[in-house]
Amino acid sequence: MTVFDIAADFTVTVEEWEALAKRTLTAPAYDYVASGSGAEETLAKNKTAFRQWDIIPQVLIDVSERDLSVQLLNETLAVPVMLAPVGFQTIVHPDGELAAAGGAAELKVPFVASTVSSFSLEEISAEMKGQAPCYFQLYWPADDDVAASLVARAEAAGYAGIVVTVDTPLLGWREKDMHNRYFPIETGAGIANFLNDPTFQQKYNEGGTLTYKQQIPAIKRILLNQKVTWNKLDWLRQRTTLPIVLKGIMHEEDALLALDYGVDGIIVSNHGGRQLDGTGSALEALDVIANKIQGRLPLVVDGGIRRGPDIIKALALGADTVLIGRPYIYGLTEGKQGVKAVLTSLIKDLDTSVAIAGITHVSSIGRSFVRKYSGPY
Ligand SMILES: Cc1cc2nc3c(=O)[nH]c(=O)nc-3n(C[C@H](O)[C@H](O)[C@H](O)COP(=O)(O)O)c2cc1C
Repeated sequence: MTVFDIAADFTVTVEEWEALAKRTLTAPAYDYVASGSGAEETLAKNKTAFRQWDIIPQVLIDVSERDLSVQLLNETLAVPVMLAPVGFQTIVHPDGELAAAGGAAELKVPFVASTVSSFSLEEISAEMKGQAPCYFQLYWPADDDVAASLVARAEAAGYAGIVVTVDTPLLGWREKDMHNRYFPIETGAGIANFLNDPTFQQKYNEGGTLTYKQQIPAIKRILLNQKVTWNKLDWLRQRTTLPIVLKGIMHEEDALLALDYGVDGIIVSNHGGRQLDGTGSALEALDVIANKIQGRLPLVVDGGIRRGPDIIKALALGADTVLIGRPYIYGLTEGKQGVKAVLTSLIKDLDTSVAIAGITHVSSIGRSFVRKYSGPY
């Protein structure tokens, strides 16, 4: 490859993928993916926050060899990007999570499988064929037996960690979905982990006589849990040897509590602006949290990451790696190839940006690479 081939794998921008998704999907399905809660202030802030930090490049450095790998929870990741847990992926493409996880794995990109996947966690990990780590995202069910069963299944299926989403005691105030009267679970998407769970089946479908539709009310009843507190983490710790990562931390005091309670990592996230509208951006929260944590816990961030330089800024502000959500879901409108195309462009963009910034190892990106910009744009 020569320097002039650098964009050979470029397809289209995330914005163009989004436009394609908008044309392809039904309006309620597109809104479900693209929208945020409330007035979508937080959704917007997640993106604009990146403009408030400037990268300070360095020059006259030999950047002919570059290493994009990072360490996370005893794993070496080929690139500092993972696919965020996104539920109900069959509303975008019939191959859903299998296409996304399979595409990610072929590019050595880790995948985080949602509790509300449209394929079972066993099918998803099998699709990755061990080519990249997969993590299981737990919406802590309001039934301990089902929670324990999901976690045991994830461990048995070879998952590398449990990502507990802690920002969703209930769903955010999602005005577009309410306007559309749309929640994907009603279509039968996102329930495979329950239909395949022996404990759920035994407790809520005794005798196995209920259709999937008849099981949806019980799934909705136990899916989320408003009573889980920090003390309950011990219960989880006793049931798995896997690393436990909390997703949805925004407050620095919660980051310190996570440290006290012995979790293995945190994901700084406001759920892509889908939960509490009016919170600040995830990037700003990362800045504050990283200053408090001082390297004592692995930090991951998500929300608004669309291009290579966004990843450089996130790593500079203290993240070990990042997650992307909507960008790969827009790619998923074209199935596995679309997911791979989005990821390939993003990784190439990162590689290009890293070189021009004078960086040879992304793991060495520190705060000196960015400066806060407070002037007008
Ligand atoms: C359609 C959709 C469904 C999501 N489902 C889940 C989920 O099941 N579990 C979860 O922890 N987060 C979920 N999220 C949040 C993502 O994991 C992630 O935090 C967010 O998408 C990151 O922001 P970005 O889309 O700007 O990259 C979902 C996000 C979207 C867009």
